[in-house]
Amino acid sequence: MNKRYLSGIQPNGDLHLGNYFGAIRKHIEAQDNAFYFLANYHALNTIHDAATLDRLTTEAAATYLALGLDPDRATLFRQSDVPEVCELSWLLATATGKGLLDRAHSYKDKVNRGLPASMGLFFYPVLMAADILACDTDVVPVGSDQVQHVEMCRDMATLFNNQYGREVFKLPVYELGTPVPVPGIDGLKMSKSSDNTIPIFAPAKQLKARVMLIKTDGTPLEAPKDPDTCNVMALYKLVASPEEVAILEVKYRNGGYGHGHAKLDLLAALEARFGAARERYNALMQDRSIVDKALAHGALRARAVAREVTDRAREATGLR
Ligand code: TRP
Repeated sequence: MNKRYLSGIQPNGDLHLGNYFGAIRKHIEAQDNAFYFLANYHALNTIHDAATLDRLTTEAAATYLALGLDPDRATLFRQSDVPEVCELSWLLATATGKGLLDRAHSYKDKVNRGLPASMGLFFYPVLMAADILACDTDVVPVGSDQVQHVEMCRDMATLFNNQYGREVFKLPVYELGTPVPVPGIDGLKMSKSSDNTIPIFAPAKQLKARVMLIKTDGTPLEAPKDPDTCNVMALYKLVASPEEVAILEVKYRNGGYGHGHAKLDLLAALEARFGAARERYNALMQDRSIVDKALAHGALRARAVAREVTDRAREATGLR
């Protein structure tokens, strides 16, 4: 049996190049037998408008489908279509000490950044543990910010299994991916909270406006430029082919080629890389029935697994 990979995607904003090179690309490469879900219960911590949450959830699903996720190879679903995770999170909570959650870094970080200190935010690692355990997950691919959450999930599963003297939950491991630095338009790490993103599927005009805003060092057009310290170049390296990168590096070193020119090259490379996917994305967003069907198909599969796990937990606890 293949190992089961699972990951959650928070539908809380336009997916951008940082998400693509940091996670989405790898998710799609490793899609066989994987479970991926749109974490809309989690997103309730930040989004309190029904139409917005529904739209962002559909857009995130359409993004994955447009970029090559095949709903027959991977199980793609909405978290809220598997409400068993809520029941499991309660059961886990009853076996978990509050001190475990007090030690979570992300809660403290988020509250320090100004998010309201809600119970939802505090409880988040328990729901995340339930997401993972509900699907009998073997491996959770993560960035360094999520390692602690998977460790907490293992702790909760162990506490629960010990409490009831049987192996209700399968213990997952995390797999730490190599980070891919993606600079935002200001040169800092691209992230939604820094408001420096380039969306994957922005309409052409908006994409151009974002690319033109990328910060450069102001070297005059005629002067030679250092390709190794330029934000435009750093993004170009992610998107363009090695041959194209080599050509642009020569132009930088020779001088007489402005940052404005390089930005147009980056735009062309983005179009070559994502243009066809953007058309698929737009078509999916025109007729959402395809996205809905794919998500319903995924929900059926994920829910069948979650139902079995929940039944094991109910039986162990005496709930039935
Ligand atoms: N916490 C993850 C994030 O912010 C999203 C997530 C929710 C998740 N549940 C998960 C990731 C389960 C992996 C497994 O990116």
